[in-house]
Amino acid sequence: MNEIIIRGGRPLEGSVRVQGAKNSVLPILAATILHPGQVTLQGCPHLSDVEASIRILRHLGCQVRWEGDELLVDSSSISRWDIPDHLMREMRSSVIFLGAILARLGWAEMSYPGGCELGPRPIDLHLSTLRKLGADLRESGGQMRCTAQHMEGREIALSIPSVGATENAILAACGAEGETVLVNAAREPEIKDLQDFLQAIGCQVRGAGSSTICIRGRCPTHDAVHTVMPDRIVAATYLAAVAAAGGTVELHNVDYRHLSTVTAALHEAGCRISGRDGRITLHASGRMGSAGTIRTAPYPGFPTDAQAILMAALLRGQGTTVFVETIFESRYRHVDELRRMGADISVADRVAVVTGVPKLSGADVRCTDLRGGAALLVAGLAAEGTTRIGGVHHILRGYEEPVRDLKELGAEIAWSEN
Ligand code: EPZ
Repeated sequence: MNEIIIRGGRPLEGSVRVQGAKNSVLPILAATILHPGQVTLQGCPHLSDVEASIRILRHLGCQVRWEGDELLVDSSSISRWDIPDHLMREMRSSVIFLGAILARLGWAEMSYPGGCELGPRPIDLHLSTLRKLGADLRESGGQMRCTAQHMEGREIALSIPSVGATENAILAACGAEGETVLVNAAREPEIKDLQDFLQAIGCQVRGAGSSTICIRGRCPTHDAVHTVMPDRIVAATYLAAVAAAGGTVELHNVDYRHLSTVTAALHEAGCRISGRDGRITLHASGRMGSAGTIRTAPYPGFPTDAQAILMAALLRGQGTTVFVETIFESRYRHVDELRRMGADISVADRVAVVTGVPKLSGADVRCTDLRGGAALLVAGLAAEGTTRIGGVHHILRGYEEPVRDLKELGAEIAWSEN
């Protein structure tokens, strides 16, 4: 069941409900450590990255159980502060647990998270921010040993609006005396969702969504229920799928505002899109024009996670689109796989030029990473004939039920019996 088969080349029609956001629930799962009691996460997506986080929480001594799509976490019995290497290596973003463990226990030990398919994933900003709060972090042999018996709130300016460093700083600051002010913080909607969760359990955090976030540490916490926000990149994926194949889709459980740069690009390339009341409707002819120049940027700019997905939507049609990937060093690894389907893409360093072609052909392709894999789903739906996608475990890190969801749009798609 690690392959997906698609017979593409025909229009799609249907509606689909968007799952909860991976990049919101992962920091929220780390944040559950802050409260020595029970929290309920509604709309929690069943993803391999979520299961990896659950394994970490259970290793630390927390009680975690599913009830349908509600995840119940009770961190009152937390007993450890170390994350073993094999758990750290399952998910690069496990470093997000560092701030929360330090805030709750004052100690933390974990291995240095490795790089990933997108290139080196440094954590220097995470560590420098925690040190500014008073944590003592020592690294040797790939291991980090941290003590933070007394963290003191203060003003901290981030050199770049790093999503993970902002989230780690917020969680650590919840354990610091006094007020912490983060300047040049990341503004992604997932950080606002983290703030909503923290406020729900009693923490004093405000300003998320802006570049300045204020946290008053060491507040008493209490049990709470939180609904995870919709996943804007999964929503972008399903819009791109119908843009590529042609047809009409109505998405439910989506915040139009979170996707405005993606819908603007799809509109520029010829799609008709409208959004209101938690829904987005898109209609496409299946022959896309140019989306102009797409430069990825921190929110509210065009999301790097949608770069491969939008690229796949533009492969069939006329017109040329220029992509500039400004966030990650090597985020064009999906290009070679798309070329196997007949895509016309040229890449030079961080720039990719996509020229629409009249037809794509199904091929055997392999996922290179999470969003590169999603791009193969999009391209396979536009390609005539059969596309066999291997390495689907990459996709399952961030997509709960890609086959079910795309079938609801009328796609001829199935798991391979392999
Ligand atoms: C988060 O990663 C997301 N992951 C990524 O989504 C997303 O692509 C990224 O933000 C940008 O939006 C999660 O939320 C789990 P960053 P993160 O720190 O926090 C550099 C997906 O597909 N940097 O904002 O790791 C870094 O190298 C994933 O769902 C430092 O130099 O991203 C990158 O070039 C992929 N030092 C840039 O900042 C640091 O200490 C932005 O990274 C931290 C980051």
